[in-house]
Amino acid sequence: MQHDSKVVQQYQRAREFLAGGVSSSTRLNQAVGHAMLFAKADGCRVWDLDGRDYFDLCCSHGATLLGHGDARVRAAVESALDCGAPCSYESEIHAELAQELCESVPCLDLVRFTGSGTEATMHCLRLARAYTGRQKFIRFEGNFHGYHDQVMFSGETLGGLCPTLKPISAGVAAGLSEHIVQVPYNNPELLELAFQRWGDQLAAAICEPVYYNAGCILPSPEFMATLRRCTERAGTLLIFDEVLSAFRMGPGGAQEYLRVTPDLCTLGKAVGGSFPLSVFGGRREIMNRLMPTGDCQHSGTYNGHPVMVAAALAAVRTYRAAGFYEHIREIAATLFPGIRELFKKHKVVGRVQGLGARFGIYFGVTDEVRNYQDAQQHDRAKMLRFIAAAIQHGVYFHDYGGAACHHGFCAAMTQTDVAAVLQRLDLALAQTNA
Ligand SMILES: Cc1ncc(COP(=O)(O)O)c(C=O)c1O
Repeated sequence: MQHDSKVVQQYQRAREFLAGGVSSSTRLNQAVGHAMLFAKADGCRVWDLDGRDYFDLCCSHGATLLGHGDARVRAAVESALDCGAPCSYESEIHAELAQELCESVPCLDLVRFTGSGTEATMHCLRLARAYTGRQKFIRFEGNFHGYHDQVMFSGETLGGLCPTLKPISAGVAAGLSEHIVQVPYNNPELLELAFQRWGDQLAAAICEPVYYNAGCILPSPEFMATLRRCTERAGTLLIFDEVLSAFRMGPGGAQEYLRVTPDLCTLGKAVGGSFPLSVFGGRREIMNRLMPTGDCQHSGTYNGHPVMVAAALAAVRTYRAAGFYEHIREIAATLFPGIRELFKKHKVVGRVQGLGARFGIYFGVTDEVRNYQDAQQHDRAKMLRFIAAAIQHGVYFHDYGGAACHHGFCAAMTQTDVAAVLQRLDLALAQTNA
């Protein structure tokens, strides 16, 4: 982007007072070297400060599934504001939203509302420890569960079990990694082994049931069956972190799609209809360990803010309405093959893996990407060139840094929009190859 662009100028200005020029570290788009500053959004499009328009294939990192400025969400928010939005109190719509969620997502008997996906995974892990009286938990290599200290670790298993984990941020409390057993994704044999060694010490196994944080990786049926069987046998709680996968491919999330019911799950991003609300919940007897019925703490002044609850209620009702996922499937059925066709046309080696409204692009990879190690094989330099070219031609993708990225579309996208996106990506791929 040119230095006289308003986006770049205002990003530089922000850096004077906002640490790193951003409110969230990963908001810097590494493909262009600055954050993107948008002035306006409508449906599947966003406009930057210079007035340039983009089809949004980041979709607020997954929070926008209906579309920007959705009229149903807006009406719900306005009606909550009209009532004075009594903050930090319960109201009728809290129970209404809870009921919609419990009717929609298989594992949910009871839910709690919280602010972010990070809080939701933090509370699930605390609750699992309270319920089982155990300390350790299993996580899967590369899966992402937010920013609290318990989950801020990585370590490449290189096909093995439980490497020495390293914090992925400075300042993480020492000693926490002792409680983590890390296993490669989609490896049922090593998962069995982990349960043989540590099963009686494991409070939880937390996983992304569809591993979208490395693009889009589906769990094998054998891996899922082993995970459910081993957790049940060991008395370990299975937690599906559905912050990104919830509502992406169906109203019951990945657990409904995969027909595997966890003990607890998180919902985030799309659940709030582009407003900040996350959810955790699960089996009644586990959730009843929360105060005031039980002894495990979950509180917060802004939990279940009425504006966010109203937005989420409008969003969830729309996801549950007839026809919503037919449209998602129809868009996916033209967008994903359309990108693959463009790869062929431009002789680009690469894969598109998608499910529902989210997908990953892996340059330089031909075989199915099944885990973190596979995803790491993608040609990152080429991906950065592609994203920069796509942005130049009016399609917004975000690069988070690190592993392969996840991209997505929203329900406001029409087939006419898909055709326009593909036209722009045609130009972008020609430039990437040049
Ligand atoms: C699977 C998963 N869990 C947790 C989180 C953290 O959510 P939040 O950014 O709302 O704190 C994310 C965010 O990307 C996520 O993808």
